[in-house]
Amino acid sequence: MNEIKNITIIGSGIMGAGIAHSIFKYGLDVTLYDLNAEELKSSYNTIKSKARKKMDPHKIHMATDLETALMNCDLVIEAIYEDLQVKCELFKKIGKLADESTIFATNTSSLSITKIAQASGRPGQFLGLHFFNPPLIMRLVEMVIHEGLNPPVLQSAKTFISAIKKQAVICRDSPGFIVNRILLPVINEAFYILEKQMINRGEIETANEIDTAIVSEEILLMGPYNLADLTGIDTIFHVSNIIYEGFQKNPRYKRSPLLEKHFAAGHYGRKCGRGVYYYGNNANDPDINPPLDEKGERIVPPDTTDFDTLDLISVIINESFRVVEEGIVEDYNDIELAMELGTRWPRGPFRMAKETGLHVVLKHLIQLYEQSGNQPRYEPSSLFTGLTEDLKKFFNK
Ligand SMILES: NC(=O)c1ccc[n+]([C@@H]2O[C@H](COP(=O)([O-])OP(=O)(O)OC[C@H]3O[C@@H](n4cnc5c(N)ncnc54)[C@H](O)[C@@H]3O)[C@@H](O)[C@H]2O)c1
Repeated sequence: MNEIKNITIIGSGIMGAGIAHSIFKYGLDVTLYDLNAEELKSSYNTIKSKARKKMDPHKIHMATDLETALMNCDLVIEAIYEDLQVKCELFKKIGKLADESTIFATNTSSLSITKIAQASGRPGQFLGLHFFNPPLIMRLVEMVIHEGLNPPVLQSAKTFISAIKKQAVICRDSPGFIVNRILLPVINEAFYILEKQMINRGEIETANEIDTAIVSEEILLMGPYNLADLTGIDTIFHVSNIIYEGFQKNPRYKRSPLLEKHFAAGHYGRKCGRGVYYYGNNANDPDINPPLDEKGERIVPPDTTDFDTLDLISVIINESFRVVEEGIVEDYNDIELAMELGTRWPRGPFRMAKETGLHVVLKHLIQLYEQSGNQPRYEPSSLFTGLTEDLKKFFNK
């Protein structure tokens, strides 16, 4: 395959503009295209105005029609609305207009790569390139592969990702890919835990206690309820639904009633002043928006806790084992990299497992499974219970 030098980005919104900038930064030719002329012009001007002296301003272009946008294009990355039908229709058109050798990629976070690849009419040249927000800062790109993909296309895409100094991880097309697949069940579990722990106690003080424990033990960068409020409980609700539906309503991924309750009440988080916590007037800065109680007073973490961080750790690790067990990744390190770079966790799940002690985690998980009357959420992955030589080697490194 040819080297990727000319890249076209379709959709110049938050992600498209950020991806274009990340590529332009490394001296490759980028063409932006958007149906919305104002959005296109504004993104193009912003990128150009932020170009450093060493960047060649002639390497960023904009096109006002799809045909021109696809001329001499080695790789097209689509970053339009998250709608399967709209994306399929767009790729049907691209499939008819683009050169024979053009590689097609979508930045979808949740839709089936396989379905969009088929719609393009050129599945062999199609893959997912899932950049994270904000693309200029986040180094991770999930490269999503599917059965019909030609190996040289993957190789060219890998070389391209290295050229723009991003870190690629490879995963098979599966709901949530790697990062969301592990993160969403963990946040969901945190809501199940909260519901259980808050009996006879206030929800906010219980959430704050758990958030504080998770952060002070350096398990996650941010406590799960703070993270849910920052991400948006509406977003958490929709993405967890994609995973639940994607796995044919497997009860393992069923949303916690408390998460559903917050969503139904419109408690979407920081952006609307109320999520799990309450927020003051300026809901954007976590430092000036500490967790508040119903009276608007800052919550002081209580001294004692009966929440065991192993309750969450064991779910993180079990889900990670499942991702390997299902063949979504081939390399355990891809899970480590994905979670460290995609969520900025202090350490990936397998390092977490190693440091906590694999047997300690497994014992705790089995206990949760039995005590809960065999809830599918706690059913240990068979890879976890029967560690293969391969995995033992990984853990003994
Ligand atoms: N926002 C995120 O945090 C994030 C993170 C990772 C991936 N994604 C994915 O990236 C994609 C884009 O998300 P976004 O947040 O940048 O959206 P956005 O709404 O900011 O931008 C979408 C842009 O696409 C344009 N558009 C829509 N239909 C078009 C068409 N047919 N042809 C050309 N342009 C068209 C719109 O005018 C708009 O400018 C989605 O698939 C989303 O799931 C988003």
